[in-house]
Amino acid sequence: MHPMPSDKPWAIVLAGTIPHIPLIENLKARGYRVALVDYLESPPAARLADEHSRVSTLAMDDVLALARARNAELVISACVDRANVTAAYVAERLSLPAPYGFAMAELVANKLRMKEELVRLGIPTAAFRVLGSPAEASHLTMSFPVVAKPIDTGGSKGVRKASKAEELQLAVDEAFKVTRSTQILVEEFLQGEEVSADCMVQDGQPHILVLRKRYVQRGVDGAVLSAYASVSPAAISAAAKQRIHRVTRDIARGFGLRTTPLLVQFMVDGDDARVIEFAPRVGGGLNYRFVLLGTGVDIIDATVNAYLGRPTALADHAGRGYLAANHVYAEAGRFGEVRNHEQLLDEGIIAEFYVHKARGAPIGASMTSADRVASFMVRADSAEELLRRTREAMQRLDVLDVDGRSIVRRDVCLQAL
Ligand SMILES: Nc1ncnc2c1ncn2[C@@H]1O[C@H](COP(=O)(O)OP(=O)(O)O)[C@@H](O)[C@H]1O
Ligand SMILES: [Mg+2]
Repeated sequence: MHPMPSDKPWAIVLAGTIPHIPLIENLKARGYRVALVDYLESPPAARLADEHSRVSTLAMDDVLALARARNAELVISACVDRANVTAAYVAERLSLPAPYGFAMAELVANKLRMKEELVRLGIPTAAFRVLGSPAEASHLTMSFPVVAKPIDTGGSKGVRKASKAEELQLAVDEAFKVTRSTQILVEEFLQGEEVSADCMVQDGQPHILVLRKRYVQRGVDGAVLSAYASVSPAAISAAAKQRIHRVTRDIARGFGLRTTPLLVQFMVDGDDARVIEFAPRVGGGLNYRFVLLGTGVDIIDATVNAYLGRPTALADHAGRGYLAANHVYAEAGRFGEVRNHEQLLDEGIIAEFYVHKARGAPIGASMTSADRVASFMVRADSAEELLRRTREAMQRLDVLDVDGRSIVRRDVCLQAL
């Protein structure tokens, strides 16, 4: 007997990260067979896909060849930096549906070109200079503090603050170390608080679903580390909120975004809000859970709709109470287990809990997002209750290493909003 040939169309998903698990489930429910592209041997989403090709999501022509071989009807990435550039490239070559073109995707994936375009459009962002070599650091004419950063990376890789001349060379060297480009950026360090806007743009109109404040830990030598918590609603002034709405509209209009998820990062100082960067995609990690719990909007489903040119109902996206995503860090070592999270879930102190490490996995000392051990979501009706629950969860949670020693970092936790 021959197996019945399936006439289901193929969708290709770029990267098998955790948020792409619901993406694959969504595509299957829509009747697609799913081919996953990820160079890792067993990324978290691989077990859901119908097949898995160990190809890099950045290898645009390899993905194009796969899409041709499968006669794919959709090539998609929802939550992964730069994979959306590959998706846009393949879609354009094969005339597949996509939320935006390759030129736009490429422009925004390059922090220098993005910044130049922001300036041209009159959108407020940090002043910057371009360095073509580490040696140029000594000629820099900017007042301190500044931030050195690569133009082609993500996840705060190689992003470092320099508060005085003596710190600048190290910061610049670190950025050059991790970039594949010949240039890096040095930016004016923006004071204030970091706020992210998770948006859906539909018919050119951005809808801000969630405005959350990101709580960032700064490391040794000014290294800019990733956030340890996100809280919505963001406690900022009404004027700053208004400015964020205006700037988000200007970005959608200026960059010609019609229907797409959009993530915009701001620095808010009093009533002032300036753009650090933006990306026409969903944020990584727990971001999609945050939007779902905070608003009821399934932004993964909305992203698939955006690829297919279909609208999503966003009618009741007004925020529902207070919400925090908290990340649990630990001292460097080998991960053993987490304790007490199930009780906290049962008691309703935390709403959701995620472990990011398998037993025996190394925990580095860098405290970047790769070193997160676990994350948990907390909901509450007031800011005070949100803080109280978060603190209680942090006090009761424990992280043990493989030898049973407690290594949890209880000091890295929300203290005030
Ligand atoms: N000009 C700036 N002023 C202050 N902080 C900044 C500035 N640029 C970046 N940062 C900090 O560094 C982090 C990472 O920088 P970002 O430009 O967002 O790069 P990435 O693509 O790695 O996320 C930001 O989330 C913010 O905390
Ligand atoms: Mg960023």
